[in-house]
Amino acid sequence: RPVLVLNGPNLGRLGSREPDVYGSTSYAGLVRECTRLGAELGFAVEVRETNDEGEMVRWLHEAADGAIPVVINPAAFTHYSYAMRDAAAQRTAPLIEVHISNPHAREDFRHTSVIAAVASGTVAGFGIGSYRLALRALADQTD
Ligand code: DQA
Repeated sequence: RPVLVLNGPNLGRLGSREPDVYGSTSYAGLVRECTRLGAELGFAVEVRETNDEGEMVRWLHEAADGAIPVVINPAAFTHYSYAMRDAAAQRTAPLIEVHISNPHAREDFRHTSVIAAVASGTVAGFGIGSYRLALRALADQTD
């Protein structure tokens, strides 16, 4: 079963990006961890990252067309991208929003998620573990 793990802007810099907020695991480490756990759960996980809103929208169209479950960390797009939200709303399979940090414990602008209402659910605040929890939730949902 394919699963897409989609990451928004600046997440390719994990490891060196504000490690006090986002931890010391590199983006490559995140890819390895999602792929490893995914395989254990019976998923063929493909992890992608983009700084480009249009590319994220096109990936969500691809997921909708293929009924592919999605784990998405929309990063800053979370807070303002209605284009991404409208693309996510077309989903035909579960879609789980994840955040490494807990946006609700941070600046006010991070308290709003424009995608949350069209997601199956949200996991936030557990570091890289948020992705693990989301993959496990997908495994539970799609069994
Ligand atoms: C983030 C939280 C967002 O507010 C921020 O813009 C990010 C990362 C997280 O994973 O904690 O880039 O989505």
